[in-house]
Amino acid sequence: MSGRRKVVAGNWKMNHGPAAAAEFFEGLGMPPSGPRVMIFPPAIALPAAVAAVGAHGGVDLGVQNLHEAESGAFTGEISAAMAIEAGAVAALVGHSERRHVFGESDARIAAKAVRAAGSGLEPVVCVGETRGERRAGRRQEVLHRQIDAALEVLAPGTAFLVAYEPVWAIGTGETATPADAAEAHAILRARLAAAHGESAAQVPILYGGSVKPGNAAELMAAQGVDGVLVGGASLKAADFRAIIEAALP
Ligand code: PGA
Repeated sequence: MSGRRKVVAGNWKMNHGPAAAAEFFEGLGMPPSGPRVMIFPPAIALPAAVAAVGAHGGVDLGVQNLHEAESGAFTGEISAAMAIEAGAVAALVGHSERRHVFGESDARIAAKAVRAAGSGLEPVVCVGETRGERRAGRRQEVLHRQIDAALEVLAPGTAFLVAYEPVWAIGTGETATPADAAEAHAILRARLAAAHGESAAQVPILYGGSVKPGNAAELMAAQGVDGVLVGGASLKAADFRAIIEAALP
């Protein structure tokens, strides 16, 4: 056993404003103790989420993205300091939609990871190959390139998480098999250990991509899978709670 605590994280993407966020947490109630539970609401719903969680406790909140600069003329962006002030403790960086829809490069994502970590937010560094890259047998090469960019700039001992999210499994209903996820996680775990040594053993590696109540337990039981990052199925409190329950021993 790794000794790492399981993590169940929800990424709401561009869903759930303040009112829906409050309603979600009311429905979720106090999560069962054991796994670390995290939710990444839209930044504008963060204060409502903080207020709602304040009553229930037990959920760490984060932002889905941040700008790498400290502050300045970046219309539409949010900074790490603002996210922290609003109650975030973590930040997704390099989510597949940021990479492929918004064109963020490995270097930019690394800069965001550094800004987050340097400001006191735990970065969740998201990596994953596209279908084309997978078909071309390039999964390992892509994972190495994406994770190395972050590992080069994050100091060993930094608190961060990694999420393996194969792009072809995100929002498609298709998931990696547990064996497939285990293979990718082993690739990432080896890279973490090579770059950061012993401290890397603390870093959780989550699986993401069409995780649902019905497949969460078997994915979380796969070798090296320390938890899940859930998109669509994190929007409904009952489904998300069922996934948290699937993480219980
Ligand atoms: P999905 O999204 O669970 O809807 O596939 C996962 C993610 O993008 O984090």
